Amino acid sequence: METLEELLNARLTAAFAAVVDGGADPVLRRSQHADFQADGALAAARKAKRNPREVAALVVEHARLDDLCETVEISGPGFINLTVSAGALGRLLAGMSAHDRLGIPAAVTPQTVVVDYSAPNVAKEMHVGHLRSTVIGDATVRTLEWLGHNVVKANHLGDWGTPFGMLIEHLLDIGEANAAEELSVGDLNGFYRAARAKFDADEAFQERSRRRVVALQGGDEETLRFWRMLVAESERYFMTVYDRLGVRLTDKDFFGESFYNDMLHPVVASLDELKLLKISDGARVVFPEGFVNRDGEPLPIIVQKRDGGFGYGTTDLAAIRYRTQELHADRIAYVVGLPQKQHFEMIFSAARSAGWLTASTRAEHVAFGSVLGTDGKILRSRAGDTIKLADLVDEAISRAAAAVAEKNPALSEAERDRVARLVGIGAIKYADLSNDRVKDYVFDWQRMLSFDGNTAPYLQYAHARIRSIFRRGAVSAPAGLTTIPVAEKAEHALALELLAFPAVVAVVADTLDFHKLTHYLFGLASAFTTFYEQCPVLKSEGEVRESRLALCDLTARVLCQGLDLLGITAPDQM
Ligand code: ARG
Repeated sequence: METLEELLNARLTAAFAAVVDGGADPVLRRSQHADFQADGALAAARKAKRNPREVAALVVEHARLDDLCETVEISGPGFINLTVSAGALGRLLAGMSAHDRLGIPAAVTPQTVVVDYSAPNVAKEMHVGHLRSTVIGDATVRTLEWLGHNVVKANHLGDWGTPFGMLIEHLLDIGEANAAEELSVGDLNGFYRAARAKFDADEAFQERSRRRVVALQGGDEETLRFWRMLVAESERYFMTVYDRLGVRLTDKDFFGESFYNDMLHPVVASLDELKLLKISDGARVVFPEGFVNRDGEPLPIIVQKRDGGFGYGTTDLAAIRYRTQELHADRIAYVVGLPQKQHFEMIFSAARSAGWLTASTRAEHVAFGSVLGTDGKILRSRAGDTIKLADLVDEAISRAAAAVAEKNPALSEAERDRVARLVGIGAIKYADLSNDRVKDYVFDWQRMLSFDGNTAPYLQYAHARIRSIFRRGAVSAPAGLTTIPVAEKAEHALALELLAFPAVVAVVADTLDFHKLTHYLFGLASAFTTFYEQCPVLKSEGEVRESRLALCDLTARVLCQGLDLLGITAPDQM
């Protein structure tokens, strides 16, 4: 199934090929002046030292666009303006409507994609950075899975390292049962802080902790048992947060740092064999090409510390090798905050030198900015602590419940609770995803829960309102139409928006810039609002009524599917 843009592109590409040597990109885009405009004649003419308007005229002459366009005009220095015909829109809309995947086929050659996301740290509260990773990662997983790819969800839990010495000693001090209790109710910060405080104040405790790290690394059975308990309790708590958020992560997706422990020695040995290891200050390091500090000295990845311990980077080298060589990943997406940009660049570079990352795998750092409070500073609780995600979700739901009750007092209590959950969680996710992800964004309850503007509640409400048209009219969506005639200007505009969905999803799957999808959905809802103001639906008759109902249905389906890719559920009623 070809999209409108693909069809126009193909026809114009053929025409350019007939007109200029070697052909040219038509440079097609949506336009203010017409439905689409193709600017390719300018660059093509410059290259061939010809007059751009003449090139454009020849392209128009050669292009077979009769079945797609109403008018094709040349404007300005040689832009080609295209207005799509009602007939073409009607046919394409009918095709999209008849397709249960809204014109987006599943991938013919599915890729194996590893998504490394969420990745909180054991015995530490998840912070808002982990929330962003979880939300963006979940949207990535949903989008790629929907497109038919084979997605491996890798929750790179911080479950190994020196802090476990003090954490285990603290666990022993307060007793296993108490520790389990504290962790399972989610008092991770309290537990961590108590351990840290003792470590900082008490030398004997410090010494015990150090010995404990050695025992842990040495594989001491009893120590491992305590460690496992800390990990299991934390995982259980993280799962409750994931369940509340409605993300796809399960307890099978924990591939924590410790998962790679057995691979660390072999990684070091391979790097040694490849002559990539250097000694620096007694540590074994790799100097990836092209990374220097402020003084121009090469920057190392510490592979093995002078005491024999491994680091965060070593684990990431082992992980990338495992993902390419064992999982055969075609693509690896690391959904991690912007501050780790250089870390990943260095890992990718070293992995390339080692031959563990080749041109057949696309490795990318899906970076994101910080979450700020309305005061413009890093978001913290009133007491100045990092915010507990579970509390954040609770607050979103209770605020949403109030907003929903005000909007629709007639909803039953059970319905309201269900809707409040979807709206509250949707609001948090949408606020995150609708911002350019590498930028910081301001966490603002008022804005994200508003029923006006570019928000989840607005889109969820737009969707429910369309569904209510069918309920009120006691009609179902027309099926089996061979065309969905559009006559009015507002219908025409809505049709173009609907038909743009496949191209938007393709761009988002490639760039993982989810704000492009939210922007699109918001534009679609706005086009629908204009249409609904100007074109009566239930009050119209015959073919017009059928076609308008079909437009309503298609809009609702696109909104619902688009939001679902973002991890947001659109209820039928709210
Ligand atoms: N646990 C780390 C943190 O909290 C994030 C891990 C990201 N993934 C990775 N492969 N390094 O900062």
